[in-house]
Amino acid sequence: MTGDPSATTFQLRCISCGATPDSAAQDFRCPNCGHLFEFAFSKLPHDPAALKSLWLGRRSSIGEAPSTSRDQSGVWRFRELLPPIPAEHVITLREGNTPLYHLQRCALATGVDRLYAKHQGMNPTASFKDTGMTTAASAARSQNYRWVACASTGNTSASMAAYAARGNLRSLVLIPEGKISWGKLSQSLDYGALTCQLRTDFDGCVRILNELVREKPVYLLNSVNPYRIEGQKTAAIELLEQLDWQAPDHIIVPGGNLGNSSAIGKSLVEMHELKLISRLPKLSIIQAEGANPFYRCVKELGDRDIGAATLEPIIADTMATAIRIGNPASWKKALKVLRATGGQVEQVSEVEIAEAKAEIGADGIGCEPASAVTLAGLKKLRAHGFVKPGEIVVLTLTGHLLKDPDFTINFHRGDLFAGAPGEIEFARTKLLQRAPIVLDANLRAVIGALDAAERNS
Ligand code: F0G
Repeated sequence: MTGDPSATTFQLRCISCGATPDSAAQDFRCPNCGHLFEFAFSKLPHDPAALKSLWLGRRSSIGEAPSTSRDQSGVWRFRELLPPIPAEHVITLREGNTPLYHLQRCALATGVDRLYAKHQGMNPTASFKDTGMTTAASAARSQNYRWVACASTGNTSASMAAYAARGNLRSLVLIPEGKISWGKLSQSLDYGALTCQLRTDFDGCVRILNELVREKPVYLLNSVNPYRIEGQKTAAIELLEQLDWQAPDHIIVPGGNLGNSSAIGKSLVEMHELKLISRLPKLSIIQAEGANPFYRCVKELGDRDIGAATLEPIIADTMATAIRIGNPASWKKALKVLRATGGQVEQVSEVEIAEAKAEIGADGIGCEPASAVTLAGLKKLRAHGFVKPGEIVVLTLTGHLLKDPDFTINFHRGDLFAGAPGEIEFARTKLLQRAPIVLDANLRAVIGALDAAERNS
């Protein structure tokens, strides 16, 4: 029966050996084989038309009651496809509800007319993390945890700190010292997290956190937590609703720890099974060249069976700090959805990322560097003929432009690659650079600048 949460039941299931325990251990890894769990539906809601109208109807709800605030959330509005959590435990900032934009100039530049951006940076803490944090933080509260914790490249920690504060939970953040942007760090401080900058990288922070949760009753909020993945699924449901349930040909996402690609892919497969959509979009995953363990894994695997895949961890390095990850936790889930949807994996260089970020900015949209790998990747997928000009393409922009202003300012001043590899290649982005002009406070000087800009346009 649609609308009745009891119509759907969820079962934890190991993605590798298929074990179905009643609950997961603190590290969310299968005790039999060490792989991750996912939530599997064991009874599917069966009336797609009724689900669509129920979800749409909830959008117009007003008021402050817990049931109403769930309806106003772009995540909980779709709760028939989420593991159930009692309304009184739900922590929501009315996340989701993010816009879908047509990227006009980028469309021209890539030769794909119908090019859209689903801007997940328009969430309450300015990244896609909020859609999964609302579900996982609510799970922590419903299980009476006092502390929640995560290792992060900055966005997960910002989001976790906010949701913990809203839900009266304490939060512990482990971040790599000196390798996250100030914007993200400032968020977790302001939202009141206990913020520890460890002298290691993201992968080192994950290692320590896994040891910590074995010793202390702390609830892990990284994307190994399957509640995170379930919440993040809703970005794809909302996208399809915005497209009036007409599936695009391609959805392109950045790949870091690979939770988001897994979530979006799982959502697409489920929507297809539920007949909410009649065909599956291809989900492609883009990594930075310096943080490309998944790209290498997929290329190495070739056409062989998924069972033969191994992921070799690397020491990661990229200016797109959000995806500076060498040992992604959800690689196996991501591989499954890549195969299920028929998508591809690509890698892009630092200059390609910087250029694509400026192009998205010039379209009046903007995003943080990690999000821009999607446009850079699209250019490659076009060049290889995988994406065709008449197809509909959606880029998932994962974080807001203001998350990493240093990157943007250095780009426009022309010093982003000063003394670094890529300096020569970077010169080709000159026309996209808009350095600020310092002038005397005098009208003639300003008119001179205006006239010069007009002549050059
Ligand atoms: N884009 C942004 C802006 C991110 O912050 C992240 C991950 C990704 C893309 C990659 O998503 O890990 O699910 O493949 N940020 C994490 C963090 C790791 O700690 O904030 P993924």
